Amino acid sequence: MELRQAIADYVRKSRAVHCEPEQVVITAGTQQGLYLAGRVLLSSGDRVWAEDPAYPGMTAVLDDLDLVTTRVGVDAQGIDVDAAIAACPNARAAFVTPSHQYPLGMPLSMARRNALVAWAQRSNAWIVEDDYDSELRYAGHPFPSMQGLAPSRVIYLGTLSKVLFPSLRLGYVVAPSPLIDAFAGARALLDRHSPTADQHVLAAYMREGLFEAHIRRIRGVYAARRATLIAALERHIPDDVTLQPSDQGMHLLLWLPQRFDDVQLAKSTLADGIVVRPISPMYNAAARPGLMLGFGGFEPEELEAAAIRLRSILDRNRPTRRTGA
Ligand SMILES: Cc1ncc(COP(=O)(O)O)c(C=O)c1O
Repeated sequence: MELRQAIADYVRKSRAVHCEPEQVVITAGTQQGLYLAGRVLLSSGDRVWAEDPAYPGMTAVLDDLDLVTTRVGVDAQGIDVDAAIAACPNARAAFVTPSHQYPLGMPLSMARRNALVAWAQRSNAWIVEDDYDSELRYAGHPFPSMQGLAPSRVIYLGTLSKVLFPSLRLGYVVAPSPLIDAFAGARALLDRHSPTADQHVLAAYMREGLFEAHIRRIRGVYAARRATLIAALERHIPDDVTLQPSDQGMHLLLWLPQRFDDVQLAKSTLADGIVVRPISPMYNAAARPGLMLGFGGFEPEELEAAAIRLRSILDRNRPTRRTGA
């Protein structure tokens, strides 16, 4: 309860989430929150919306639960709500990343947020809000959560993986009051609860103000690492490889010319000691090749060296242009 109280205070203040501590269910991270949301809210065969591209850990949950997913394209304003309604008006839930679309990085515009909420209220549908890294916005304040717009229709998922560390395996669901027992019950069926020792330590860390001080500090650390990586890429990366504009998070997205095979390229970089994630498998339709570059865990010199190595890997793996192509 102490941790639930601390998290409720934190998300109310920093994310404009409307909740009481009783609505906070501690999870083993957002991955478990996504699974719980699917189990509690939906039945096999139900229709849902998911963004295209999307986080593979989320779409895998939808597939595992035998849900019928309509993948909805995103543009500069985020998920195209009108297109979603046209393609699948009777969906029971929308799984979205409104603060920072995964993996492309744009926030969902206010007009789209209102349209999504209006649809959910009209249709008695649910919005599952995956708010995985919104604390890490470098220009201006983080966008408020969608949960604050419609607390009775939104299931809010938060994680400590990004702002603390991923091996902690702690996160939280903020559920509408009528769903608390169902979420708590489903969570207990999986593994009863997260380790209570860790929960006590985290509660004390939050209560004493250290958590918020840590977030203020890492914003500066990650902003500097991000600036280093952007500058290094601009110096070393060929002109036909472009950076996706973004202002938050712990990764950058590098677009490759269409003829590149990003999956193969990710294997080549791995063999050379650089871990990148290919983007094209995150798409359902109209896949674009690209690489996700995480900068959170690396010192500026490592990022500079990696950008130089990435350049030579790109040159080595450059597909030869076919005549007429
Ligand atoms: C968009 C998104 N959702 C969910 C997760 C899973 O988070 P967790 O580590 O809390 O399970 C991640 C982790 O990278 C993510 O990027």
